[in-house]
Amino acid sequence: MSLVATDWNADTYHRVSGPQVTWSAEVLDRLRLRGDETVLDAGCGSGRVTRLLLDRLPAGRVIAVDASPDMVARARVELADEPVDVRQADLAMLRLKPGEQVDGVFSNATFHWVLDHDALFASLAGAVRPGGRLSAQCGGAGNVAAVHVAALDAATDLGVAERFVGWPAPWNFAGPDVTEERLCAAGFDEVCCWLQAWPLTPDEPRDFLQTVVLRPHLDRLEAADRERFLDAVMAHLGERPVLDYVRLNIVARRP
Ligand SMILES: C[S@@+](CC[C@H](N)C(=O)[O-])C[C@H]1O[C@@H](n2cnc3c(N)ncnc32)[C@H](O)[C@@H]1O
Repeated sequence: MSLVATDWNADTYHRVSGPQVTWSAEVLDRLRLRGDETVLDAGCGSGRVTRLLLDRLPAGRVIAVDASPDMVARARVELADEPVDVRQADLAMLRLKPGEQVDGVFSNATFHWVLDHDALFASLAGAVRPGGRLSAQCGGAGNVAAVHVAALDAATDLGVAERFVGWPAPWNFAGPDVTEERLCAAGFDEVCCWLQAWPLTPDEPRDFLQTVVLRPHLDRLEAADRERFLDAVMAHLGERPVLDYVRLNIVARRP
């Protein structure tokens, strides 16, 4: 049995990431771009949302960073003709090139996948120039709690619940207060974080759950159990489930 975390499926993600596109609009608004800046897209995924960032930078450029080889490969194809430098790196250990700093940092639906937020925010503080802004959104406290319960119920139904006993959570759904403290400690000011309930039904719920929300759960299971696990989760949630998303919004400035 393999318990090694699998890579993202970038092609499926690109197709099912309508919710991420929806979430990104307000996050991009809060960056208040002139249009000629260099912006870091922290966790660019397949590049679908990066394109929306580029739409706001007619005279600017983007440094797009992601840890996933499949996402980076897809983003490079997707953004081949754009002023984008796609790099593979772990955001918690990000070091830009010597002398390089960005004017702003944008991040959508990524920070909760990075477990060490102190290291993440220290990296980002080092990447942005003084006066530069950070605008981000990720899963926050309480995010998809009901989906996680349905997943554990499904595992119990299938007799594989022991796979999740003592499971170290693969995400960091942080609250606003602790996140503000961490951002200040990393050297940001004008920090403001808040939660936003955002229940939604994806267009292709099963593929969305498989590719995004339940990716870590599926990694815990034998390959032979994965399809029936997904079926069981769908049975608990219903055919057109309303997923209980809670977003953590983040704005900050580097003094
Ligand atoms: C849900 S996707 C969001 C992608 C894109 N921002 C969007 O809105 O469509 C989360 C992304 O975070 C990336 N990611 C997770 N942990 C990371 C890390 N430590 N460093 C860099 N990227 C990471 C994943 O590879 C994945 O592409």
